[in-house]
Amino acid sequence: MDPTPSSKTTLLKITLKCFYGFESILADELKELGYPETELLNRAVQIKGTWADVYKLNLYCRCAIAVLVEIDHFYIQSEEDLYKRALRIKWHELFDVKKTFAIKGAIFSPIFKNTHYPFLLVKDAIVDTFKSKADERPNIDVKKPSVLFDLYIKDKEVTISVNTSGLPLFQRGYRTAVGPAPLNEVVAACLVRMSGWDRKQTLVDPFCGSGTLLAEAALLATGIPSNIERQHFAFKNLKNYDAALWESIYESAPRVVRQLPCQLIGGDISDEMVLKARRNLRTFSFGRFIEIQAAPFDKLKVEAPVFILTNPPYDERLATDIEELYGNLGSWLKHQMAPSKVGIISGSLEGFHAIGLKAAAKHRVFNGDIECEFRKYELFEGKKALN
Ligand SMILES: C[S@@+](CC[C@H](N)C(=O)[O-])C[C@H]1O[C@@H](n2cnc3c(N)ncnc32)[C@H](O)[C@@H]1O
Repeated sequence: MDPTPSSKTTLLKITLKCFYGFESILADELKELGYPETELLNRAVQIKGTWADVYKLNLYCRCAIAVLVEIDHFYIQSEEDLYKRALRIKWHELFDVKKTFAIKGAIFSPIFKNTHYPFLLVKDAIVDTFKSKADERPNIDVKKPSVLFDLYIKDKEVTISVNTSGLPLFQRGYRTAVGPAPLNEVVAACLVRMSGWDRKQTLVDPFCGSGTLLAEAALLATGIPSNIERQHFAFKNLKNYDAALWESIYESAPRVVRQLPCQLIGGDISDEMVLKARRNLRTFSFGRFIEIQAAPFDKLKVEAPVFILTNPPYDERLATDIEELYGNLGSWLKHQMAPSKVGIISGSLEGFHAIGLKAAAKHRVFNGDIECEFRKYELFEGKKALN
């Protein structure tokens, strides 16, 4: 594997990182994007591809949080081995001494008593490589590095990659207005896929907040890349950055639609959140086609059957009587929305219990650090959906 400037057609080992539990969702997305050969790892999926694929995946992949390209892979017996092997990497061919860098990653190895130490060793190897070439060293910037490396050590096995995304890919660039409890954009994109929505049926989010689920659903239905509004990609700071290649990929991406292939409706009880959702969605050409109603969920003007995908309030960030709210939600679904399909993400098991409907499927997921469940329901007219 040679990820250096001259290797435009070389096949690279590309690792797409994802959130807990979404590996198979990401693999499905990769298949749809034209990468049928996938290997599922823990919180990641691996494929092979070229630098053009790396650029495309950063733009198009909705379910990944970072796109890594392997630089080196080796085995060590001691701490010292890590420094020695890292010193063999041609760091000066990867990035310019004027760029800042940082190393992040994960260490699961008894070789290292202090898990910060391996990062220091690789940092030293990078700095010493530059010093030996030009007596100049690049600076470290942990918060906003131009170039980000990923170090992963499992027992004796070391993988060093360059993180071609830099800032995580959920920083899409379209969500400028948020409320107190926004859903992570990558989680939203994964849930849209996991829900089984067919991209044609009317989709309703009755607790839409800043509109994340609606935005990701509309992006998927229109084929517009979720990262079309994002400016930052760390691959632009690498020495092998091919601006013409990136521009041809970016310019050929779809971005303007004259209509939506389906109806999307949002609602929120808060006037402020309704304005924020509208503002975020109008970043896109499809924004004006998405109707956002300022209303409590049970007063929404929608007619069943629809596909409901939503994230009701569930934690201390939004003071709410959970039992009452979810109880009312369950009654509304049962009595007003059957026959419909429903997907709900919530961190409140008490809330799910209060809904009083039997879930067709349950998935453990995380919204940032908050452990949640995503439950799917099928509402039938009659008694079938009741507990
Ligand atoms: C967890 S937030 C949704 C966040 C959203 N997914 C996002 O990414 O911004 C829950 C939203 O439900 C709204 N809400 C609370 N009670 C409601 C009700 N009875 N009817 C409709 N919306 C309600 C809140 O104003 C809040 O915006």
